[in-house]
Amino acid sequence: MLRALTRRQFSSTAFNPYKVTVLGAGGGIGQPLSLLLKLNHKVTDLRLYDLKGAKGVAADLSHIPTNSTVTGYTPESKDSQEELAAALKDTEVVLIPAGVPRKPGMTRDDLFAINAGIVRDLATSIAKNAPNAAILVISNPVNSTVPIVAEVLKQNGVYNPKKLFGVTTLDVIRASRFISEVRGTDPTTEHVTVVGGHSGITILPLVSQTKHKSVIKGEELDNLIHRIQFGGDEVVQAKNGAGSATLSMAQAGARFANSVLSGFEGERDVIEPTFVDSPLFKDEGIEFFASPVTLGPEGVEKIHGLGVLSDKEEQMLATCKETLKKNIEKGQNFVKQN
Ligand code: NAD
Ligand code: LMR
Repeated sequence: MLRALTRRQFSSTAFNPYKVTVLGAGGGIGQPLSLLLKLNHKVTDLRLYDLKGAKGVAADLSHIPTNSTVTGYTPESKDSQEELAAALKDTEVVLIPAGVPRKPGMTRDDLFAINAGIVRDLATSIAKNAPNAAILVISNPVNSTVPIVAEVLKQNGVYNPKKLFGVTTLDVIRASRFISEVRGTDPTTEHVTVVGGHSGITILPLVSQTKHKSVIKGEELDNLIHRIQFGGDEVVQAKNGAGSATLSMAQAGARFANSVLSGFEGERDVIEPTFVDSPLFKDEGIEFFASPVTLGPEGVEKIHGLGVLSDKEEQMLATCKETLKKNIEKGQNFVKQN
């Protein structure tokens, strides 16, 4: 009994305290994501930054009796960088959901014009104030914003490819859900590897590697793949101008952040698909690619290959790579030319 109590007391105490910062914490994703991070016992110092609203969100969350402090930061004046610097100082994990979301009729690439500059400027401050942090990029278009962050970090001499991640977990959780709807199964037991990037045809679910490979075929397979690739559009259309996925994204972001922290803590076999600086197709000029990654104390520990693909998936991979290459170069050129 005493032993059980002691264990329980220990389990509510974080042995490895982690500082985590959310940039864009006042937004549709930022708020529920911050809530989920407040509930994560691995996080002990939660810093919330936004151009507006972050102090209110922080005050609200700070009343939840979990083992973390929460501090809100908003710039005092339009050009002030001090609050951003304070939110980032020596933090260990930065999540970036700052930026504008889609409206019906838009592609993620249409967000580039606004979000590229936002992400570049935030990355510049990360380079100066938290050069060793793991950076989890949520802002779209992820296929381009991740290369933007990489270029900024390179320009500042602090690029560590093991610590830069494009968050593609929403595609993974959607795939579990959607395949379970097709098969009438428990979604919590469904695992679909999703590789490539995070937009339309660059999202490549490997249904041939699931236990359902021989039963999901033909039109049913085509529809399932399409739904996973364009799941974001379902939400954009349903929200009808009020933004894109926020709550499912918060869950996905919190899950991925937890996996990164589990890796930091030395937990074994923590594997998540994520969009990283990858050797898989570098010889074809594709510098970033999402595939399953083992997370460890230094961030990326091992990048796994794609395994055996069906003929259909091979064809989809070819078109995925064409688009991805252009998206990546667009992000890189934006930083090089501005
Ligand atoms: P939102 O408009 O509700 O929130 C964005 C927040 O960012 C706002 O509070 C805004 O004030 C803040 N912001 C803007 N510029 C900033 C800056 N320079 N510094 C700090 N904060 C800043 O949007 P949302 O629904 O939360 O979506 C945010 C982004 O996430 C969008 O680009 C969206 O496309 C993307 N997204 C990505 C995924 C994914 O799977 N990776 C999923 C859903 C949404
Ligand atoms: C998603 O997949 O839901 C996000 O990338 C947001 C969007 O624009 O669809």
